[in-house]
Amino acid sequence: MNRIEMEEIFQNIDLTVEAPTEEPQRQYYFMKKAKEMLKDQEEKLGRKLTACAVTFGCQMNAKDSEKLIGILEIIGYEMIEDEAADLVFFNTCTVRDNANQRVYGRLGVLNSMKKKNPAKKIALCGCMMQEPTVVEKIKKSYSFVDLIFGTHNIYKFAELLVTMFESDRMVIDLWKDTDKIVEDLPAERKFAFKSGVNIMFGCNNFCSYCIVPYVRGRERSRNPKDIIREIEQLVSEGVVEVMLLGQNVNSYGKNLEEPMSFAQLLQEVEKIEGLERIRFMTSHPKDLSDELIQVMKNSKKICRHLHLPLQAGSTRILEKMNRRYTKEQYVALAKKIRQEIPDIALTTDIIVGFPGETMEDVEETISVIKEVQYDNAFTFIYSKRTGTPAAAMENQVPEEVVKEGFDKVLKVVQETARERVQRLQGQTLSALVEEMNEQDASLVTGRLSNNTIVHFPGDASLIGKIVDVKLTECHGFYYVGELVK
Ligand code: 5AD
Ligand code: SF4
Repeated sequence: MNRIEMEEIFQNIDLTVEAPTEEPQRQYYFMKKAKEMLKDQEEKLGRKLTACAVTFGCQMNAKDSEKLIGILEIIGYEMIEDEAADLVFFNTCTVRDNANQRVYGRLGVLNSMKKKNPAKKIALCGCMMQEPTVVEKIKKSYSFVDLIFGTHNIYKFAELLVTMFESDRMVIDLWKDTDKIVEDLPAERKFAFKSGVNIMFGCNNFCSYCIVPYVRGRERSRNPKDIIREIEQLVSEGVVEVMLLGQNVNSYGKNLEEPMSFAQLLQEVEKIEGLERIRFMTSHPKDLSDELIQVMKNSKKICRHLHLPLQAGSTRILEKMNRRYTKEQYVALAKKIRQEIPDIALTTDIIVGFPGETMEDVEETISVIKEVQYDNAFTFIYSKRTGTPAAAMENQVPEEVVKEGFDKVLKVVQETARERVQRLQGQTLSALVEEMNEQDASLVTGRLSNNTIVHFPGDASLIGKIVDVKLTECHGFYYVGELVK
């Protein structure tokens, strides 16, 4: 749904009658209404109104922000990257506490800006807002916020903006859960040539440390027809790479009316002509099927990268985490994948400092890192999330012990990753050119199928193209190379 198509839709909407009840028509109605309200405001102020989006957290949030920005652009806001804008929204994350603290810090700054610009509006959405204690705190200490909504109702953004414009009090709309998926809403893409595509929402796993199932609700898969239609549309607009997004993509399709496996979905996506690369995130090891390994192995489009969160290497801790695999099962799975697809890059997530974790447990994690030889690993310090089973567990680990374990793990991760990445030295591989290099304007930055980054001499005309690059110098996690043709 682009701006021209939306203009055509708007022509047939009559704002003098009540809003339709069915979606997405109801939202089209409110987009048109918000657009008119914005025009009035602009006339009164004698200038254009601007908006700024700030996104915290994961790919899922990045995708949600693209949808929210899409709506703001349709309505007529000019998007800028400056929190002094007339409308600022924070799409928040709550997976670890440090993301929450950053939001509170930045809200304080927005308040002083609002005092100077009375037209300024502040909206908060995303995972953090799904926590009742957070909302209580904002109501009490940050009462200048204009709009709060959650993860289940972002499709209603236009309607909520209209309510916000009409109200002089804080507007709050939060849903505990939903079984609804609204299709055919606008979205503004950050990159012209690659895009995230939601395939499912929510998570049913309830790992004991994780807040995601509480803030993103139960698993819901999108209909495969809608997914394929969206990707076909993206390809017709010039997209060559898609990233299929879900908290646990390996359980895709289980609760569809006509159940379908993730591997089957991938085979359908592979058939789309013009699409060159397929990525996906995130896989839970317990659900990773042999069927998926074979589909990846035989695919020409699925990238040679698998993100397979380990979380911990000790079976005792894994059990307390409710991960439902043992150390041995995980290592056997990683070996099987490497055997079937030797050029695959494996990356992972690791948590250090889960309640009751000892140095021996940390050593088990290190032994898995050494055995699996990850190409990269994201290491996190355990963060206590209120309401999760782990938060109520006894023997939370003291900070200094966690720090010691964390540093040890990080060191091994860096050493093994460097070794893995170095293996590619001298090879020529294809890279999708993503952007100009931020530090050196004579270089462009590309991504290999296995997700490794390579910088090489080139200009903006290469952006969005897949080219062959010789990997000449390994610099730890990335390469410097040269264009081959
Ligand atoms: N503390 C630290 N890390 C966490 N993650 C999820 N919950 C927590 C928590 N409470 C990490 C996991 C997950 C990644 C997205 O965030 O490693 O894979
Ligand atoms: Fe959280 Fe576990 Fe679900 Fe991932 S799989 S979102 S870690 S509960």
